Amino acid sequence: MDYIAQELSGPSVFKDVSKLDFDYVPDVLPNRDEHLRKLARIFGQILKSDISENVLIKGRVGTGKTAISKKFCDDFTKYAQDSGVAIEAVRVNCHQRNSDSSVMLKLVTHFQPSFPDRGFSVDEMMDSVRKHLQKRKCHLIVVLDEVDVLLKKSGPNLIYLLTRFNEEDSMTGYTVSLLLISQQNVLEMLDQAALSTFKRTNVVECNQYSAKELVDIINQRIGLAFRNKAVDIETVDLVADIASQEGDARLAIELLWKAGQQADDRREGQVLPEHVRVAKGNITTIENKLDDLTLHEKMILMMVARVLKKGGAYTTTGDVEKLYHVACEEYGEKPRGHTQFWNYIKSLDAYGFINAKKSGEGIVGNTTMISLPDVPATDLEELMRKNIRKSEKR
Ligand SMILES: Nc1ncnc2c1ncn2[C@@H]1O[C@H](COP(=O)(O)OP(=O)(O)OP(=O)(O)O)[C@@H](O)[C@H]1O
Ligand SMILES: [Mg+2]
Repeated sequence: MDYIAQELSGPSVFKDVSKLDFDYVPDVLPNRDEHLRKLARIFGQILKSDISENVLIKGRVGTGKTAISKKFCDDFTKYAQDSGVAIEAVRVNCHQRNSDSSVMLKLVTHFQPSFPDRGFSVDEMMDSVRKHLQKRKCHLIVVLDEVDVLLKKSGPNLIYLLTRFNEEDSMTGYTVSLLLISQQNVLEMLDQAALSTFKRTNVVECNQYSAKELVDIINQRIGLAFRNKAVDIETVDLVADIASQEGDARLAIELLWKAGQQADDRREGQVLPEHVRVAKGNITTIENKLDDLTLHEKMILMMVARVLKKGGAYTTTGDVEKLYHVACEEYGEKPRGHTQFWNYIKSLDAYGFINAKKSGEGIVGNTTMISLPDVPATDLEELMRKNIRKSEKR
């Protein structure tokens, strides 16, 4: 078993790889100070005069929308607490929760974890939130991330109700504010009634990062995640150059991480431009091929990735078909029939995105087993998610 100890104790370019995790938010967000300040000016009104505010954070993929909303809500609720005002912020990912009732359920269970997940209407849940705010004497900020999915799926009704929350006469001064986040200009998707509560100026626009801005972000991550001098300076420039084509900080961080893994795999002790090129190759080879696929094929591929990222080598067409229906629901698409589903599986196999083969002995029935060729399932799921959202915008 020596090989395990050897591999675990072997040299690595990383000192703390968790700092490259997509959910990790650093204490300082380079080049987003102005955005945070604007949020502070707007939401500061809740502290000053007990009024609610509605804000939209808008920007392309990987421009720091989710990161600034998380940092701001953490900082703001702490600041409010120090000033003697209670503010709670609840974050909802509308990609996962795209119906009015599932969003409301998330809000109620924030205050009352035991709240039953069935049997209550949106209005009843709204009343329950109202009571909790009064009891706790606190204001609420509802963060609706990827809100375009909710709007497409369920329309603007919930947003309307939440913006009118403060007008109910039973309210005693504890307000609900909204922080909407989207890649798209969702204000266009609101109806007049909901729109009237949004000030045009309450939009925080996240620009695509320039190569220079990405260098700041990359250098910060290198300091947090890599050993001293483990990343060559030209590597930094190359990563920034590549990621600046989309202005995408997530891509920059992902490339850095993959390049670090390459360096470790080759035991080279330093992350060099060649490692970035290999890392990029892995990501882009499939990316380039995706344009040939239909939306339904893309959804199926995303679902194959979603099951397989849990660790198995194979999944079955039966499982994938069930998940395909879930994906159709997520994206508001009508599922195609079984025969058409089969045709999609065959063409994904033919293109080489998946490997489909009849099950051997030992597996009940005549199942087709599906595996992924050489791309990690987690990367593929993320790539598909991005790609589908990108094509939706067109
Ligand atoms: N200014 C910044 N400083 C440090 N890290 C950043 C900055 N901006 C973004 N990041 C990091 O880049 C990654 C992507 O950012 P984030 O998730 O906020 O993007 P997003 O705009 O929400 O993208 P999407 O539209 O795809 O949801 C995250 O890991 C985040 O921590
Ligand atoms: Mg986001």
